[in-house]
Amino acid sequence: MITVTKEQSTYLIKHEALKTWVQEVAAHCTPENIRWCDGSQEEYDELCETLVSKGTFIRLNPEKRPNSFACFSDPSDVARVEDRTYICSKRKEDAGPTNNWIEPRLMKQTLEGLLKGCMKGRTMYVIPFSMGPVGSEIAQIGIEITDSEYVVVNMHIMTRAGKRVMDALGEDGEFVKCLHTVGAPLQPGQQDAKWPTNPTTKYIVHFPEDRSIVSYGSGYGGNALLGKKCFALRIASVMGNEENWMAEHMLLLGVESPDGKKDYVAAAFPSACGKTNFAMLIPPADLKGWKVTTVGDDIAWIKPGKDGKLYAINPEAGYFGVAPGTNYKTNPNAMEAISKNTIFTNVAITQEGDVWWEGMTKEIPQNMIDWRGEKFDPASGKPAAHPNSRFTAPAYQCPSIDPEWENPNGVPVSAFVFGGRRSTTVPLVYQSSNWAYGVYLAATMGSETTAAAFGEVGKVRRDPFAMLPFCGYHIGDYFNHWLQFGRSIPAPPRIFGVNWFRKDKDGNFIWPGFSDNMRILKWIVLKIRGESNAVESPIGWMPTYNDIDWSGLDFTPEQFESIMDIDREEWKAELLQHAELFERMYDKLPKEFIFMRELLLSSLWRSPAKWSLEPERIDDDH
Ligand code: GTP
Ligand code: SPV
Ligand code: MN
Repeated sequence: MITVTKEQSTYLIKHEALKTWVQEVAAHCTPENIRWCDGSQEEYDELCETLVSKGTFIRLNPEKRPNSFACFSDPSDVARVEDRTYICSKRKEDAGPTNNWIEPRLMKQTLEGLLKGCMKGRTMYVIPFSMGPVGSEIAQIGIEITDSEYVVVNMHIMTRAGKRVMDALGEDGEFVKCLHTVGAPLQPGQQDAKWPTNPTTKYIVHFPEDRSIVSYGSGYGGNALLGKKCFALRIASVMGNEENWMAEHMLLLGVESPDGKKDYVAAAFPSACGKTNFAMLIPPADLKGWKVTTVGDDIAWIKPGKDGKLYAINPEAGYFGVAPGTNYKTNPNAMEAISKNTIFTNVAITQEGDVWWEGMTKEIPQNMIDWRGEKFDPASGKPAAHPNSRFTAPAYQCPSIDPEWENPNGVPVSAFVFGGRRSTTVPLVYQSSNWAYGVYLAATMGSETTAAAFGEVGKVRRDPFAMLPFCGYHIGDYFNHWLQFGRSIPAPPRIFGVNWFRKDKDGNFIWPGFSDNMRILKWIVLKIRGESNAVESPIGWMPTYNDIDWSGLDFTPEQFESIMDIDREEWKAELLQHAELFERMYDKLPKEFIFMRELLLSSLWRSPAKWSLEPERIDDDH
């Protein structure tokens, strides 16, 4: 690592545009020092030590959790801030109805005011990073400037960062400008906070035409690690729309059947709705010979190949995963991935110096420190770990990592799966009859909100393609982009809907989920190969009870029916919400969607009031 004074800072850098930008930012934000990050292990270790000495990081017991750290954020800085997130395209209509928008010149004025002197007393780090394998044709380069050591060490894990990226950038390569500050300048002699943040002002701002991002006031995850949501989804989705590719909030997994045939599946679930779990799934032992491998758990970049197939890469290099609920039963691969070299944010710490969260073990350890840094009181009714507490772990530590996960050409995608968190209405699994209806299914997906973003939890909202908070342009243009994509390739991947989250009258999940999701994945994969059966339902193709492999699981036909039925009244309400979504984007709504909604309505009216896989069991009222 090179430590330089402000004056020398860009001396060794050959890229003129980059040099100029860094100098301008330094002149405006007035940091104490500038450091260009080289991405080395020494740099990582040194900055972790710095964080320990500042009190931000707590080194965990090396016997329990080698080379790992825990930290507690400020209680006001625990999740993405969707209402503070802006897409500042030149024209308001390019941001569309689902994004906050402010005129870019006005926003730049506001930000300039906030950024003036914002790094006072801090070191400014310059992190060159690649989203995707360095040098891959699908990969993109970004430079993040930040005044947070926490961000630097997390970027080390989550991206390919450092000198090799500078080399790939050369003297005039293109890069996305990512400027981040915690927005907490230090006066001389002022004691720093353990988690510096701006308690009153936060801005997560994207300028799509400039390919630039400014993030002010938060140090947390998706707000601060700008390669992730800001670049790899919001800015990249704009690039993809212009350049005929797609940036999606999707996991990527490989499925191998006993005969050695392999398919790759991309699946979009909203935040905290099971992507990491599904991506790392271990099939039940009774499904002999089936194997799942992990390419990515959160983001996929997808491009058409010369052979007419779609190819996808995981642009990230690590997992920033939800901790609560993760354990050796629900996700053993994640537990192994986080067994060392991991950063934990907002989990609880045990008296042995290890970590804990709700759902990690049945027994609650004694004498823990909770995520607020206080002695945990199990009687308080408050959780020990924050519901959106997270781990940051290197992807290669995951035992199920796919051998092709760093293939610069990506992996071929055979199927898309979309799934929200719905306690009613939406069945366990169904297949769209064609590409356009599949796009409709994904566009109208609803989900109950989770702790991954600030705001009310558990309310159903439309979350098209699980991209509502992440699409960097007009959502109507995005739907058209998807429709067009399917038209431009000879045999587009099949599209499925799933819902692991249906509940019974007492509020319990009916479907066991997790590894048993393999039974549904097996049906999906055999279906795309033409080797499994389905019947037609009012909303698409569905497996009957006998089409699913139940070996080793006691799940009755009655239970299956109870998560596969289609209730006309519930679906009428659902279709009203589709109409509400469409009204918001009336000027760019694909006309196909209007017809598809009508078709759905008529097929619901042609079917029994409660359509079931075995209709004779239920009274038909028409
Ligand atoms: P982001 O990282 O926020 O984008 O989310 P993600 O989709 O990767 O979330 P993750 O896989 O970490 O989901 C975590 C939540 O989903 C936890 O509350 C899990 O218990 C729950 N979950 C995951 N899979 C299942 C499942 O099959 N059934 C049920 N009932 N819950 C599940
Ligand atoms: C999400 O909220 O979808 C995440 C976590 O993957 S964060 O990176 O914080 O956005
Ligand atoms: Mn996510």
